[in-house]
Amino acid sequence: MKKILVTGANGQLGSELAVLAVNNPEFDWVFADRTKITLDNLELLQNQLNEIQPDIILNCGAYTAVDKAESEKETAFLVNHLAVEKIARYSAENNVKLIHISTDYVFDGKSSVALNEEAVTNPINIYGESKLAGENACMKENPSAIIIRTSWVYSKFGNNFVKTMQRLMQERDEINVVNDQMGSPTYAADLAQALITIVKSTNWVSGIFNYSNEGEISWYEFALAIKELGNYSCKVGGIGSSSYPTPAKRPNFSLLDKEKIKSIYNLEIPDYKVSLKKIFE
Ligand SMILES: NC(=O)c1ccc[n+]([C@@H]2O[C@H](COP(=O)([O-])OP(=O)(O)OC[C@H]3O[C@@H](n4cnc5c(N)ncnc54)[C@H](OP(=O)(O)O)[C@@H]3O)[C@@H](O)[C@H]2O)c1
Repeated sequence: MKKILVTGANGQLGSELAVLAVNNPEFDWVFADRTKITLDNLELLQNQLNEIQPDIILNCGAYTAVDKAESEKETAFLVNHLAVEKIARYSAENNVKLIHISTDYVFDGKSSVALNEEAVTNPINIYGESKLAGENACMKENPSAIIIRTSWVYSKFGNNFVKTMQRLMQERDEINVVNDQMGSPTYAADLAQALITIVKSTNWVSGIFNYSNEGEISWYEFALAIKELGNYSCKVGGIGSSSYPTPAKRPNFSLLDKEKIKSIYNLEIPDYKVSLKKIFE
């Protein structure tokens, strides 16, 4: 029985994988929270990997606090770069299949067409820089690894935009949401299913793949969809990002082109609204 190690097990993606693991008992699943796989202590991490001896690693753990990363650069790079390097090296040395998760924030947002896997990267915040450094280290240490870039992740687990909107729309009469950052949301349960499809496939194709739900929207339009599905009376207005300053800059455009993963892994990716509905069911 193949042993699958899931890092960041209490995160959105890790938690959705745990839900799906129940229906995939042909694997020996090890769900590792930060005590079992510690991404900010490289020596401990090495020992933990040696102890667990996985056959497959789904590296879902990451430093994901985009704004906080601006003032915690060292920790962001430790978790998103150096720990990834360590995991990738371990996986190469021990013939372990590695799927590492990355982000649309490796891009600067200047494109106006969907970004494919070859599009030029140029992160504009510390989080994006640390994730890009992680991607590069991953590919250098283990060229057989798969990297999946995803965007705007939400789930019924953890904190995310959808939950924040649900809360604010119940608390307030009116909210404003940025309307000049375009992309596509990703329901973590859909991405988790895609990861399992890849793990089960006999076709292991190394390199970078994009994954998000279908659709091209702004955060404002995403908020409108949440309002509609939740039947909230709160008024939702659109504002430019210049009116909503945050410590970290965000790309204005980060729509991912999903043709590669769809064709190689024969995936049917749900439209964002179809998946968003599931949160309300
Ligand atoms: N969320 C998004 O919008 C988004 C967008 C694009 C890409 N991604 C990428 O998608 C992947 C999954 O994201 P997610 O939304 O599931 O993230 P998440 O909910 O923030 O989960 C990340 C997990 O990593 C764990 N972690 C953080 N620091 C750690 C450390 N030092 N040692 C061990 N574990 C640590 C966290 O543990 P605790 O629970 O104990 O804090 C958490 O469980 C990540 O690679 C992320 O960069 C996310």
